[in-house]
Amino acid sequence: MALLAEEEAQERPFALPLLVRLLRYLSPYKKRLVLAFCLIFTGAVAGQAGPRLTQIAVDRYILRSDLHGLRSVLLLFLVCVAVQYLAEAAQTLVTELTAQYAMRDLRREVFAHLQRLPMGYFDRTPIGRIMTRTTNDVEALSEFFTDGAVSIFADCFALLAIIAFMVDMDLRLTLVAAAVVPVLVAATWYLQGLAMQAYRQLRLRLARLNSYLQENIAGIEVVQLFGRQQRNQADFRREHVAYRQAEDREIHCYAVFFPLTEFVVAAGTALVLYFGAQAVWQQRLELGVLMAFLQYVRRFFRPIMDLNDRYTLVLGAMASSERIFQLLDVPPEAAGGRLQQPPRRADGLIEFDRVWFRYGTTDDWVLRDVSFRLEPGHSLALVGATGSGKSTLVSLLCRLYEIERGAIRVDGRDLRDWNTDELRRNIGVVQQDVFLFSGDIAGNISLGNPAISALQMAEAARHVRADRFIARLPGGLAHPVGERGATLSAGERQLLSFARALACDPRILVLDEATSSIDTETEQLVQDAIASLLSGRTSIVVAHRLSTIRRADQILVLHRGEVRERGRHEELLRQGGIYQRLHQLNYAATQPHPPPR
Ligand SMILES: Nc1ncnc2c1ncn2[C@@H]1O[C@H](COP(=O)(O)OP(=O)(O)OP(=O)(O)O)[C@@H](O)[C@H]1O
Ligand SMILES: [Mg+2]
Repeated sequence: MALLAEEEAQERPFALPLLVRLLRYLSPYKKRLVLAFCLIFTGAVAGQAGPRLTQIAVDRYILRSDLHGLRSVLLLFLVCVAVQYLAEAAQTLVTELTAQYAMRDLRREVFAHLQRLPMGYFDRTPIGRIMTRTTNDVEALSEFFTDGAVSIFADCFALLAIIAFMVDMDLRLTLVAAAVVPVLVAATWYLQGLAMQAYRQLRLRLARLNSYLQENIAGIEVVQLFGRQQRNQADFRREHVAYRQAEDREIHCYAVFFPLTEFVVAAGTALVLYFGAQAVWQQRLELGVLMAFLQYVRRFFRPIMDLNDRYTLVLGAMASSERIFQLLDVPPEAAGGRLQQPPRRADGLIEFDRVWFRYGTTDDWVLRDVSFRLEPGHSLALVGATGSGKSTLVSLLCRLYEIERGAIRVDGRDLRDWNTDELRRNIGVVQQDVFLFSGDIAGNISLGNPAISALQMAEAARHVRADRFIARLPGGLAHPVGERGATLSAGERQLLSFARALACDPRILVLDEATSSIDTETEQLVQDAIASLLSGRTSIVVAHRLSTIRRADQILVLHRGEVRERGRHEELLRQGGIYQRLHQLNYAATQPHPPPR
């Protein structure tokens, strides 16, 4: 978690390719952008015209007592203020909206991409990191688009307008005003650097504080059960002290930073006043020009200091966009062949042909040379010690991972030639760990598939004996389900997952039995449910219940990823190998009537 936090607080140097790729998200909104630029330009010119108008008013009309002329200048001044206001308001609306559209596109793309990533990616990547990609990083880019990118142009335009007006009035005085710019840039740069360091520290501390909170709230049950509250409170206090110190440093920086730059700005003003006044006395300069310059000098330094700020925002956006693009560049899972319409219904013949598989590129093969053939409508039970590769085999059949050697075929067709959606529609899976989404019972059975009617849901629930507990819930199928199904018992969750697998009436059923046994009363219910789940379908069952195993047409005994024994229950018992030992360990003691040898 701490490492994660550190990564989030990083920044990247300026990188043009990243920026180009980022700006591509704005390309569908070119017309709006052109409009925004025109508005920025208009606003800058109208906004910076004020001092120049002062000069005209003073030199041409006030000193010559021309009230009529003064009136028209005042009118022009009011018009300029109005134009500036309108242009800025319109520009803000246009850019904010455009940025939001661009961000919407990016968020959609990120989420759509996430959903198509192979399982291996999720194994490798902590959830926290994926979450920050999709929230914090996208948010940082949003800030960049609304605040950074456009404001940089606004600042530049304002600066250009000011310089143009100043040069137009008096070149020499402009150079005098510009004399302090290098000092200002250097001072801003240095102090900004200090402030950035403090800010980075602050973010790092905040990220740590957040991850600490997140972990301990997620594990609140353990915290309370094991009485860790006191210790956690102390830990939290320590984290918080570090956070507050970082915050102090930042505040300190800013308290010193602004007054210091004000000195430089004041020095610039003094220089203009000193040289300007002498020029006025020597009648080389009109008084109005000097007055206008005094106003421009202050305005002149503002964008220069702001640009520094914006640049930091750009660097932050660089880091965020790099991380988001890294995510977008992970290749999505292979889609396989083309989706047939209507999706084809499999016969249910399954073949594994010398399949080798490992997670990632480690040297540990999880499946070694596994072969079997399962006729349509038949059942296969997978038996083996924990970690022997049973769940892995199931994942491979659904093509959640790619195999390295060998081939898996369904209906005689290689998995890679199946359209992945089509394949998965034909396989109903009951996973070892049931995952429920927040929503209602019905939504957790159909998973939002509109092709599954309420009647089919009720039918599926009845088939797996889930109907009785659903009927007891207020609202029945519409009963709300909390996050991760926390309000249901483990057994109820399991029954729901059976109904889910059955609702789309799959040809192939895969059942990864949970080892945790349910109370004896429900146990009978679940056994009946399983029996009706399997009937008439090709099924692969990771079995722990003896009853399921005995019913299977074929039993495969996996040991460290290898098929060590295969056959029917009685045959395997007679062989006296692993199966017989497993059987004795697991069942002999608990069975009132040990099965005959
Ligand atoms: N996502 C994964 N990434 C890396 N290794 C994994 C992953 N899932 C499982 N493994 C490893 O692969 C091996 C087989 O795991 P698998 O889940 O297939 O076992 P299993 O037979 O289903 O065990 P159990 O009976 O406990 O469910 C184990 O050694 C496990 O540590
Ligand atoms: Mg398993």
